[in-house]
Parts: sequence; structure tokens; C-alpha cells
Amino acid sequence: MSYAIITGPTAGIGKAISYQLAKKGYNLILVARREERLKDISNELQKKFNIKVDYLKEDLTNKDAPRNIFNYVDQNNLDVEVLILNAGYQHHKKFEDVSLEDEEDCLRVLGLSVIMQSKLFIKKLINRGGGRIMVVSSVAGFAPPSGEFATLYGPVKTFMNRFVEALNVAYNKHNIYATALCPGFTITEFHSVSGTQDRMDKVPKFMKYSAEHVAKEGIDGMFKNKEIVISGGIYRFLVSGLSYLPKSFIRFIGNKIAGGRYE
Ligand SMILES: NC(=O)c1ccc[n+]([C@@H]2O[C@H](COP(=O)([O-])OP(=O)(O)OC[C@H]3O[C@@H](n4cnc5c(N)ncnc54)[C@H](OP(=O)(O)O)[C@@H]3O)[C@@H](O)[C@H]2O)c1
Repeated sequence: MSYAIITGPTAGIGKAISYQLAKKGYNLILVARREERLKDISNELQKKFNIKVDYLKEDLTNKDAPRNIFNYVDQNNLDVEVLILNAGYQHHKKFEDVSLEDEEDCLRVLGLSVIMQSKLFIKKLINRGGGRIMVVSSVAGFAPPSGEFATLYGPVKTFMNRFVEALNVAYNKHNIYATALCPGFTITEFHSVSGTQDRMDKVPKFMKYSAEHVAKEGIDGMFKNKEIVISGGIYRFLVSGLSYLPKSFIRFIGNKIAGGRYE
């Protein structure tokens, strides 16, 4: 069986996607910073699903990380069919309070590292006769920005959605399909990491989904060659209404629910 690379498999959506792909029999290459967790999850997946799991301790804020991942695959002659570009976080600060360095790091993890990994692997995917790239994006990529924090988060996710569309236009003819998985509020470590757990706790229950739910919808959609997978019925409904509703109304609702955040 071929390999899937998953960035950010040590928690949340990436971890749940790792289990989904392991269940399908894929061998895995897991990429994140926390080595203990990488080791534990790798051992568990290997035992439970009888697959091969390699892990790489890489920090995606590091400019060389995409190249290191590619070199590992190349040197070990691994047949990678699926890229899941999921790792991410956000700043819970005002734009002017995030340092240039922190802003650049976040843009690299959410954006540049996604582009660079896709760029490095695309020729391998063409040569092997096809493959899949999933970018874990967000409904924030559709909604008009409405809060004063995490100013760049939504715009980067919009960029990622467009990037996925551009990949499909260029590479579907090579049997390569790209998917943007767009979750809404999902119960993961994302909010405790970004210091917004208190706001997440106030989001109504019907607007929160489990990481497992999001991962299952994402993987099912990816294998059906879907370009955009909006996870959760409530978010499919909300996003479909965005083009009809006035921006001022959407911003008002966004602010009421979670201080202008959509995640
Ligand atoms: N949770 C939500 O409500 C929500 C909604 C929409 C979209 N999303 C998107 O879903 C994706 C996954 O988020 P999540 O909710 O599952 O968050 P999470 O539970 O905090 O998991 C984030 C994962 O990303 C990895 N990561 C973070 N920074 C990294 C770095 N510098 N280098 C390498 N890996 C890094 C973490 O691993 P290590 O810490 O071990 O490195 C972890 O495995 C993100 O792209 C996020 O934008 C989340």
C-alpha cells in the first residue's frame, strides 16, 4: 500500500484523519513537533491497523521543513499517494500586537509550507500516475472577517481554498485531485493553544463538531474528488447563505457568537 503524509497528527483533526487513513490501510508519515506524541501515536497505529508508520519531528515554521520531508521520502524511496496538509494554529492578538516574526511563522505554517510541500511533491505524484492533496482550511475562508483578532487567519484560508482550485485546474489531467476541507468550530486543542478556550466554551453546542466527524467527512469527500468539503450541516447551510446575506449582518452574527471568530 502507498503512503500518506499528515502534518499535525499529534492532536485534533490531523490525529483523527490519521486514524481514518490507517483504517483504509495506508502507510503513514506523521509530521509534527512533539516527539513523544508522534512516537505514541505511531506505535498505536502500527499495532492496531498493521501498517507502517514513520514519523518526522519537524517544525513547519522552519523554512527547510518541506525540503526535509521531501528528502526523507526520496531517500527512502517511499511511494507517497496522499498529502494531508493540516498543521495550524492562530494568534489571539490584535494585528498590531503580533510581532513580524510571529506573523511570518504563522503564515509559513498555514500557507507557505502548504504551497512548498505541494510544489515539492507534485512531480512525484505526476510520475506515479496520480495522487491527492488535502489542505485543511476553514469556513473562515468564506466568511467576511468580523473580529479584531487573528486578522490574517481568514484571508490565508481564503488563499488556501483558491490554491486548491488552482491545483485542480492544473493537475486533474494528471489524475491529481486537491481538496480543501473547511471545518467550522471543532473540538480540538486549537482553542487552548491559541488562548481562546473561554470563547470556544461559549459557542452553542449545535455549532461544534468532533474532530472525528470532521475527519470522516473530509476523507470521504477527498476520495470522491470533491474540491471543497464544508464539514457539518450547520456550516454548509451558513456558507450557502453568505452570498445572499449583507456583510454587516454576517459580521454582527459572527461577533455575537464568538467575538468575530469562525476558526
Ligand atoms: N479546531 C477548529 O475549530 C478549526 C476550525 C477550522 C479549521 N481548523 C484548522 O484545522 C487544522 C488543524 O487544527 P486542529 O483544530 O486540529 O488544532 P490542534 O488540535 O491544535 O492540532 C494542531 C496540529 O498542528 C500541529 N502544529 C502546530 N504548529 C506546528 C508547527 N509549527 N510545526 C508542525 N506542526 C505544527 C500540532 O502538532 P505539534 O504541536 O506536535 O507540532 C498539532 O498536531 C488547522 O489548520 C486549523 O486552522 C480548525
